[in-house]
Amino acid sequence: MSATSPLAGRRIVVSAGPTFEDIDPVRFIGNRSSGKMGFAIAGAAAQRGAEVVLVAGPVSLPTPAGVGRINVRSAAQMHATVLGALPADVYIGAAAVADYTPRQMAAGKIKKQPGQDTLVLELVRTADVLADVAAHPLRPRLVVGFAAETHDVAHYARGKLVNKKVDLIAANRVGVEGSGFESDDNALVVYAADGETALGPAPKPQLADELLDLVAARLAEA
Ligand code: CTP
Ligand code: CA
Repeated sequence: MSATSPLAGRRIVVSAGPTFEDIDPVRFIGNRSSGKMGFAIAGAAAQRGAEVVLVAGPVSLPTPAGVGRINVRSAAQMHATVLGALPADVYIGAAAVADYTPRQMAAGKIKKQPGQDTLVLELVRTADVLADVAAHPLRPRLVVGFAAETHDVAHYARGKLVNKKVDLIAANRVGVEGSGFESDDNALVVYAADGETALGPAPKPQLADELLDLVAARLAEA
């Protein structure tokens, strides 16, 4: 099967999992991404004969068979590692990259001060990995992003498709029982300039396969 798949022999970079932004040596800001969706996509792409580079944030998941894995921690590391993995035919950004990071990591553990009832952390914006891949001189032929939304899913997902200049945005509703973050099942709506496709609800490995069918069809087109 893999010999005839449009993904066979293609180089695919996948990002997955959360990023952790360190506040001090013992604390960080993170998010609720299990990494399961991105790992399922990486594994399914390898099954189809692709050369897969999986840039993984901090998760305790086994590396799927046939996948080359690079572990990172912070958004800055994910940015540098993903861009460093280009050129590629496809980029799939499934990671939940932190949008903000502490301006500076404290060298030592931040101690409570007597009488201090509040603590203000100054956060600065991180670089957008997905938008920077899409704008890169070595832009992959297909750039696929995810969108995690709690409301107005279509509106925000289409906005990301246009603003980040990507080919597909796979949107999932998070904060809903039985889907999204930390769940084994999920449902996606994949937005493209020329339409949209609903996938699932289904287990993440099945969704990964259906998403790769869409990716393969677009690669075969061009
Ligand atoms: N993304 C990224 N780098 C960032 C932030 C997001 O590559 N610093 C990518 C994610 O991997 C995902 C897509 O952008 O593929 C959308 O992420 P999401 O958090 O839904 O959207 P944001 O653009 O960050 O906007 P917001 O969180 O405000 O909704
Ligand atoms: Ca975000």
